[in-house]
Amino acid sequence: MSRLDSFIRRMTAQRTCLDWAAETIRGLPGPVLELGLGNGRTYDHLRERMPDRDIYVFDRRLKPHPDCVPPQDRFFLGEVTETLPAARARLGATAALVHTDLGTGDAAANAELARIVGPLIAAVLRPSGIVVANHELAVAGWSLLPEPAGVKPGRYYLYRSADGTA
Ligand SMILES: C[S@@+](CC[C@H](N)C(=O)[O-])C[C@H]1O[C@@H](n2cnc3c(N)ncnc32)[C@H](O)[C@@H]1O
Repeated sequence: MSRLDSFIRRMTAQRTCLDWAAETIRGLPGPVLELGLGNGRTYDHLRERMPDRDIYVFDRRLKPHPDCVPPQDRFFLGEVTETLPAARARLGATAALVHTDLGTGDAAANAELARIVGPLIAAVLRPSGIVVANHELAVAGWSLLPEPAGVKPGRYYLYRSADGTA
C-alpha cells in the first residue's frame, strides 16, 4: 500500500470514528473536548457535525488554519498534563466526548503520553462518556468498543466510561 493510500485510510477511519461518536453521544449532555488542535481539521469536523455542542480545544500551540481558530474562552493553551487538570477544575467531570489526536511519530513517546493522559481524560469524562483515541489507552472502568464498519482494528480506539451506577 502506498503512503498516500495509507494516509487516506487513516483519515477516512478518523472521520468514520468521529461521525460515529457524534451520533453515539446524541442525547448525552456535556461538552466535547478536542485534544490536539493542530491544523484544526478534526476540530472543524466536530463543530460542523455538532453545532450545538460546546467544544473545548487543547494544544501546546495555536497554529491552525485561520478558519479553524477556536474562541479564546474555549481554548486551553499548554501541555495537556497541565491543561486537562485545569479543565477538570473548570468543567468538572462533564465531557460527553473526548477526541484525542495527540502525539508524534515517536512510538515510545506516544505510549508514555497515553499512560499519563488516560487518567487525566478519565477525570473530565462524564459517566457513559465516549473517548475516541488515536492511541490505545488503558483506563480502569472503561470498555473498549468495537470499531464502526469499515475501520480496521488497531487504527483507532473507542471507549465508553462506566455508567456510574456501580
Ligand atoms: C496530529 S496533530 C493534531 C491534528 C488535528 N487533530 C487536525 O485534525 O488538524 C497533534 C497536535 O497535538 C499537539 N500536542 C502533542 N502533544 C501535546 C501535549 N503533550 N500537550 C499539548 N498539545 C500537544 C501538537 O502541538 C499538535 O498540534
